[in-house]
Amino acid sequence: MIPDEIIEQVSQQADIVAIIGEHVKLKKTGSVWRGPCPFHQGTNANFSVMPRGGYTCFVCGEKGTVFTFVQKRLGMSFPEAVRYVGEKCGVAVPEYQPKREGPDPREPMWELHATVAEFFQKQLWDAPAGAEARAYLQERAVSRATADHFGLGYAPRDVQAMRAHLNGLGVPDERLLAAGLLVKRDDSAELRPRFRDRLMFPIVDQGGHTVGFGGRLLGPGEPKYLNSAESEIFSKGKLLYNLANARHAIRKEERVLIVEGYFDALRLVDAGVEHVVAPMGTALTEAQAELLTRYAKQVVLLYDSDGPGQKATFRAADVLLAKGVEVRVVTLPDGEDPDTFTRTHGRAGLMPLVENAMDVFDRKVQLLQRAGWFNDLQHKRRALDRLLPTIRAASDPITRDLYLARAAEAAGIAREVLLSELHAVRRGNRTSGAAARGAADAGRGGSRSSGARSGGAEQDLRDADAPPPGDDSAPFMPSGPYRSRVEQGNAEQTLLRVLLTQPIHQDLVVEELGKLEAEDSPGEGLGDAEGFEESPGVLRDPVYAAIYAAVLRHGADADPETFASELDPLEIHVYETLRGEADAVVDAPRSIADALRQLRDRSLAARIAELDSLLPLADAEQKNAILARKNQLAKERRALGSSSWRAVRTTGNR
Ligand code: GTP
Ligand code: MN
Repeated sequence: MIPDEIIEQVSQQADIVAIIGEHVKLKKTGSVWRGPCPFHQGTNANFSVMPRGGYTCFVCGEKGTVFTFVQKRLGMSFPEAVRYVGEKCGVAVPEYQPKREGPDPREPMWELHATVAEFFQKQLWDAPAGAEARAYLQERAVSRATADHFGLGYAPRDVQAMRAHLNGLGVPDERLLAAGLLVKRDDSAELRPRFRDRLMFPIVDQGGHTVGFGGRLLGPGEPKYLNSAESEIFSKGKLLYNLANARHAIRKEERVLIVEGYFDALRLVDAGVEHVVAPMGTALTEAQAELLTRYAKQVVLLYDSDGPGQKATFRAADVLLAKGVEVRVVTLPDGEDPDTFTRTHGRAGLMPLVENAMDVFDRKVQLLQRAGWFNDLQHKRRALDRLLPTIRAASDPITRDLYLARAAEAAGIAREVLLSELHAVRRGNRTSGAAARGAADAGRGGSRSSGARSGGAEQDLRDADAPPPGDDSAPFMPSGPYRSRVEQGNAEQTLLRVLLTQPIHQDLVVEELGKLEAEDSPGEGLGDAEGFEESPGVLRDPVYAAIYAAVLRHGADADPETFASELDPLEIHVYETLRGEADAVVDAPRSIADALRQLRDRSLAARIAELDSLLPLADAEQKNAILARKNQLAKERRALGSSSWRAVRTTGNR
């Protein structure tokens, strides 16, 4: 906190005419100074500055003090503005003093990281070992100036170089180990650097401290990027890459651009677009969204144009909307990311896309509309199920109202109906299936190297950053729902076990499940709208569904390597477990029959629930048809008989 007396003193001493005069051409007229208004880009002298007071524009109404002028024009926070003006008029403004006693305990770690960043930077530009990295930067068209602006460096391949250099500066191995910059491998006493042969991006927190690194391989390999391990000073989910550099520009533009990657951020800044930040390979977190609200109330998302990019966009949008931020999205041409696009088209190509960025909700509606999802009742229902969470997420009441009106219009239903849907919690097949899928996804965080972007909000989108290079051999241990062996009454598990241990039944099972799937989605003419979560298939459990999908592709009797090559670790584990449980299958035909009956019953129940959910959207005629259909399904369900459950329960026990 800056003491009030000091603020008062600065404001007394400040030469407001001189300070504003640096930005506006002012002319003395009587007792005031006048010029064109910088806020509405006026051309006439409607902007007036009072030497003993503030400024006002008679046209756009902007007015304020010398501090607000500096805040708005230079994008500074209030304390920064006071300090800036203080410097100009010779009033010393004391540094912000946290109430804590003594220096921040993280200081030594920050300092160490800054020192290491400097070492990497020297390696990049001055060492022979850095030649390949220099060539890489050249090939990616990164100028020296931009590289230096970001403090880029190179972590040499030589395992001793960094250690020797830092030891020479008096930094002992223990500190490097504690910082995670050196790692000890279990099998030897040997110390190795975490980062080797990588282009290094120093990561700086909001306070300007160097807290970690992201390192990119110069060639192909995995993982493409490796970040510092989580620590007291480095928490990926709370940091945003480039925020420290961008914050003034963000305040000034009153808007922040979010891109996915280090190189995207780098390229935009290189092109003169400074108000850009990037999360570091994770889905945007609440903490990051919260952080951004301090700087701007409008966010423009510039993610990859592919399907996963779009999903990540919509996820991030919901997180931001919950913080009351206005969210717009830029859709880049197919196959482009902000890096490639800006490299070709420059600032001049990019800025119009940013200026014309669409509100995220409009974009969602547009995608659903294009995919024909508002044309029939069933799809309309599902379209609304994809829009309602976003409407709910919007914490700003005006935005929510607007979204509600747009959704009602697009779907052609009354606003009141939608409003009651907004408050209703839907139970039912699709919703719960999707939730189960999300939960299971989050449980296997980081098992796929690329493309696996679905899952829990804070899940790493790529692979985990935990293992140091070459140390990824930890055995996979499943947790949660897949730990048990034979689960009684689990029809999906039963079917897969039979398929994998007695592939002779494959044709029957595949055919029956195929029929069930067809009944499940009657008249499904449209695929899933791009960028939205898919509906669950006939097997709802994501792990069983993945294994079954592999069965469909390769046959239940394909060799284990074939399965292993396209399943993730949890799925492989479950596959192997089921395959080893031949003993649990006593009477295969009967198990199959029972399991199928159970799935059919579940499917009928879900379809009935779905019909219920259509009722509020239906007109009188449609209502009659729906009720008739419901009756029919209920009858089918009764015909299946309650005996199926008892039969299943006895199967596993014998
Ligand atoms: P380039 O290929 O260098 O252009 O990278 P990119 O920025 O286009 O990468 P991509 O779109 O694949 O990934 C975006 C961001 O996700 C990266 O900047 C990283 O922060 C992160 N990321 C990508 N791959 C990995 C990885 O293998 N591990 C980790 N931890 N993060 C990754
Ligand atoms: Mn890229």
